[in-house]
Amino acid sequence: MRTSVITGLNQNERELFATLDPKRLPHHIAIIMDGNGRWAKKRHLPRVAGHKRGVEAVRGTAETAARIGIPWLTLYAFSVENWKRRPKTEVAFLMRLLQTYLKSEVSTFNDNNIRLEYIGRRHELPSEVQDVMQWAQDATAKNTGMVLTLALNYGARSELADAFNSILDAAAKNGGLEHLRKQLIDEETIGKHLYTSHLPDPDLVIRTSGEMRLSNFLLWQLAYSEIYVTETLWPDFDGKHLLEALRDFQKRERRFGGLTEHTA
Ligand code: IPE
Ligand code: IPE
Ligand code: MG
Repeated sequence: MRTSVITGLNQNERELFATLDPKRLPHHIAIIMDGNGRWAKKRHLPRVAGHKRGVEAVRGTAETAARIGIPWLTLYAFSVENWKRRPKTEVAFLMRLLQTYLKSEVSTFNDNNIRLEYIGRRHELPSEVQDVMQWAQDATAKNTGMVLTLALNYGARSELADAFNSILDAAAKNGGLEHLRKQLIDEETIGKHLYTSHLPDPDLVIRTSGEMRLSNFLLWQLAYSEIYVTETLWPDFDGKHLLEALRDFQKRERRFGGLTEHTA
């Protein structure tokens, strides 16, 4: 619930939050967390050092988002392309880091009433990683505040392919393909078969480290999202940067194809 007195924010965050209209905060924020490798390179450190610091940025961002009452936060943590195209040693490090992060973070999630969920082809991840993911999800399942969704082994094109196959499966169970032909696939049907069927579309997508691309993230769901790109590298991102993005968001005029401002 949003209240005018927010606990847990630092001085900087409180000042920034005071400049925002609490009634016009985005419901769903999606973040493409990028720049861990560049952060490390700037410091002559191995790439994995950037990933380690990146985890701390996740904590700060998720805490602030929960404290100001954002209902849904979705973080792009690991793509299907990362899985295929990065050196095996880096992928193995990221898998270990994910397990350590989830084990240590459950208490932060519970302290902030955050419920953890995932999107992506989790069944393709190593079984020990899947076990920790399930454990952390179960441990936060009763929380009623912000839903934090981690996109892991996620790709928007794989998601759409999975959705279309799921529509075919449902049709096969429900009278076969003849039935499907008559029924016509519409936008609502596709939305219901995506991994995000239980989530509203993001109002705002943030990408760190300056790249102007979506990198196969939520291609369907971002159709009318506001895009905010910051030069800040992900390990440097914190609650203050999140609030700056929200200030920028509140200056935007969302039209959804109309001539004047329109709310979704
Ligand atoms: C983002 O940082 C983290 C993941 C994709 C896992 P990168 O590792 O992509 O960092 P850069 O883009 O090389 O700086
Ligand atoms: C996007 O970052 C993917 C994640 C944040 C998980 P990448 O670093 O993988 O994207 P590209 O390769 O720069 O497009
Ligand atoms: Mg990158």
